[in-house]
Parts: sequence; structure tokens; C-alpha cells
Amino acid sequence: MQLRDNGLRFSPITVALHWVVAFSLLSILCLQGFIAHATDQAAQMEFARLQNLIGLVLFLVSIYRFWARITAYHPLPVGTPNPIEVIISRSVAVALALAMVLLPIAVWASRSTAGEATDLPWGFSIPALLPASQTLKQIVDVLFDIGASLFLVGLALHSFGAVKNHFLLKNDSLKRMLGKHVEL
Ligand code: HEM
Repeated sequence: MQLRDNGLRFSPITVALHWVVAFSLLSILCLQGFIAHATDQAAQMEFARLQNLIGLVLFLVSIYRFWARITAYHPLPVGTPNPIEVIISRSVAVALALAMVLLPIAVWASRSTAGEATDLPWGFSIPALLPASQTLKQIVDVLFDIGASLFLVGLALHSFGAVKNHFLLKNDSLKRMLGKHVEL
């Protein structure tokens, strides 16, 4: 099995982890909605613990993913996009991968500085290693808000690029990310 990306194709690991990350992110957002609408406090806590667990998995997977992205070739683009578009789309992809490492750290730091541990299912928890401090929490929260906003802009651009390639340019860029073998 091809373990690393090369100039011709993404490795199956990259393809699988790309969608693990996308679906983990979607689950986290859905759970946020459930937490906001749950009337029962026990259910709310259960959803929050599950959300933290998915966040932890997302964080660990993203460390590997970011390292893999910056240490392997990005396959040649499908079709004939202009070089500026290629540079922008690749930079956005790397930034998205990095954001998935930094944003979970910011969530954990925000909870830690509020003096809270990050609870996981089955009685486990991620300890709050930072000192409880209102000032530090405010700084972390501002950084998180900036990072999350930039991340959403990047994700919108990234998704727009995928939709444009698939429906407008009708090339195999999205199918390649879904595992299709594409000859370049
Ligand atoms: C809305 C869902 C998504 C779609 C439709 C989508 C689509 C794609 C496509 C088509 C590519 C291949 C681009 C190429 O050929 O160079 C790609 C690559 C990539 N995407 Fe996404 N993507 C989505 C969500 C995400 C999310 C949530 C992240 C990270 C937070 C992400 C990060 C990346 C990265 C880092 C790459 C480069 C390949 C890699 O190292 O995994 N994508 N995406």
C-alpha cells in the first residue's frame, strides 16, 4: 500500500483521514446543536463528553495529518488550473490541517484557564494543566475566535473549490479525494 502522498496521487491514508477529519468536525458541530437544545442536564453532559472525545481524536489524527502534508509532495492538480489558484488552494489546505491541531488546543486551554478539566466518556478526563486565570482565558478566547473565524473562511473557500471543480469544471479533483484513481 502507498503510505505517503507523491506527485501523482494521494495515499489511501490521506484520503481516509481527510474524510475522518471532515466527518469528525461535522459531528462536533451537530453535537454543539444537541447540547444547546438538550433540556436534560445529564444528556447535555453526555453530549459534551462525547464531543470532547471526538475533539481529542480529531486533534491526534490532525497532528499526523499536518506532519504528513508538509513532509510529502502534494499530487499534481487535476485539470489545468492557473498557478496562483494552485498556490492558494494548497496554502488553504495546509492552513486547515494546522487549524485542526491548534483549535482543539485553544478549546482545552480555554477550559483549563477557567479551572475546568475536559471530561471524556467512561470517567476519563484531560487535566487542566494551565493555571486558572480570567485574563489568560480572555486572551485564549480571543485567539480562538480569530482562529475559528479564519478557519471557517478557509473551509468555505476549500469547499467552494471542491464544488467548482466537480460541477463547473467537471474534473476528477473531488473523485480523486474520494479514492478514484486518476491518471495525470
Ligand atoms: C466540505 C467538505 C470537504 C470537501 C468537499 C473537501 C474536498 C477536498 C478535495 C477535493 C481535496 C483535493 C484537492 C486536490 O486535489 O489537491 C481536498 C484536499 C484537502 N482537504 Fe478537503 N474537503 C473538505 C473538508 C475538509 C476539511 C474539514 C479539512 C480540514 C479541516 C480539509 C483539509 C484538506 C487538506 C489538508 C487537503 C490536502 C490533502 C490532505 O493532506 O489531506 N478538507 N479536500
